[in-house]
Amino acid sequence: MEKITSLCKRRGFIYQGSDIYGGMAGMYDFGPYGVELLNNIKREWWKEHVQNKDNYVGLDSAMFKDPRVWDASGHTSGFSDPLSECKKCNTRIRVDKELGRIGVTADEKMSEVELNALFDEHKSKIKCPKCGATDFTPVRAFNLLVKTNMGDFTGKNETPVYLPGEACQGIYLNFKNVVDTTRMKVPFGIAQIGKAFRNEISPRNFLFRTREFEQADTQYFVRPNENKEAYEKIRQERFAWYVKMGIKAANLRFKQHDNLVFYASDAWDIEYNYPSYGFDEMEGIHDRTDYDLTQHMKHSTVDLNYTDPHTGEKYIPWILETSAGLGRMFLAFISDAYTEDELGGETRTVLKLAPRLAPIKCAVFPLLKNKPELVAKAREVFAMLRTEFMCEFDDNGNVGKRYRRQDEIGTPFCVTIDFDTLGENPDLLNTVTIRDRDTGEQQRMKIEDLTNYIKKAIV
Ligand code: GAP
Repeated sequence: MEKITSLCKRRGFIYQGSDIYGGMAGMYDFGPYGVELLNNIKREWWKEHVQNKDNYVGLDSAMFKDPRVWDASGHTSGFSDPLSECKKCNTRIRVDKELGRIGVTADEKMSEVELNALFDEHKSKIKCPKCGATDFTPVRAFNLLVKTNMGDFTGKNETPVYLPGEACQGIYLNFKNVVDTTRMKVPFGIAQIGKAFRNEISPRNFLFRTREFEQADTQYFVRPNENKEAYEKIRQERFAWYVKMGIKAANLRFKQHDNLVFYASDAWDIEYNYPSYGFDEMEGIHDRTDYDLTQHMKHSTVDLNYTDPHTGEKYIPWILETSAGLGRMFLAFISDAYTEDELGGETRTVLKLAPRLAPIKCAVFPLLKNKPELVAKAREVFAMLRTEFMCEFDDNGNVGKRYRRQDEIGTPFCVTIDFDTLGENPDLLNTVTIRDRDTGEQQRMKIEDLTNYIKKAIV
């Protein structure tokens, strides 16, 4: 993981948030290549869940919501992590995680009193991760919602609003709007990619646990009690999508929760085998029953019953949710693609990303930097290709170095303009070499065929 984080920083995928001020815990910025990879992951996810699905539509809801939303969802009361502090060095620990490390399970639904009893029983075996001391403050249920004063002009923070603790709430708020304004009929789904914010006690492991992150969510609305079959299908589809996007199946696994969050009646994670950390949650798939719409109906007093257009039957649909953190997906895609191999007798680092996810699809080089006619032709080819996909022009250093640079960022194709392109060998006029990232093999191709060749390879 150290090599991967170092590559991410060195090559402009990820920067520490507020870097020039010393960095801010749990915050990361996506750099020039990072934002391309992130956007490609989002685009592929959207293609799968909206574009290629008959009964799904997309949504983008406002981040700020009526604060009552978070009362209805259960987040103002039940969305907390158990926090304790080392009395010697004031390091904050997440009690459930520390108990987990010594094999003790703290149930999500435990009260503060119950958590304290459990912690007292076992805390002699727990050491402060920073200073090793064993003296801790009592456990406090620490609410993870991030409060802001948006729209509060009193200056007293009397009416806080919250940043979204989970992105999906916007979907529940718009369920009725979608039913009323589209031809969607139950069963149907709504997909959304949105930001979430959590006051994580100990952000850690690079992009894995941050305080600001994005979630790619689908909520599938079904008739009451018709959840089981659809849930199983959705679970399998989500697993298959990761494999289709190039992740090795051996690095993925399902894990069922035995410790359910307050809204779920069944929950499975898709875990990825992160380097150094091992298998951990990348996506949560939750059977939320009628919890969300029932709660919002109660708190908003708006009737959220769905009326079956054929039978007239009224009911609150049940919901099956998939929720994947984009940061965790990003980390999994990069980790899975990261390869050190040998090519032409040299070791190299290469990101073997699925071409459709690669930040740059094609790099264009003039063989020599100091031959204006080569540079001009390379610029012409570059100008043609960049109208179709993300391309990069590079004339720095020798061609071997340029290949290495592109390998490191996962560029599937490198095109070189040489003297034959200019007609030194008349049979090869207007042809170029195109090199494959994974095999290093080069073939000669007409310039006019490049666009279609690359297009076919990146779908
Ligand atoms: N709407 C359901 C929900 O939010 P969750 O299991 O809390 O469920 C879903 O979160 C996904 O969001 C997780 O599987 C993970 O990928 C991502 N996620 C959650 N907390 C995160 C954090 N602090 N940093 C980065 N990603 C996070």
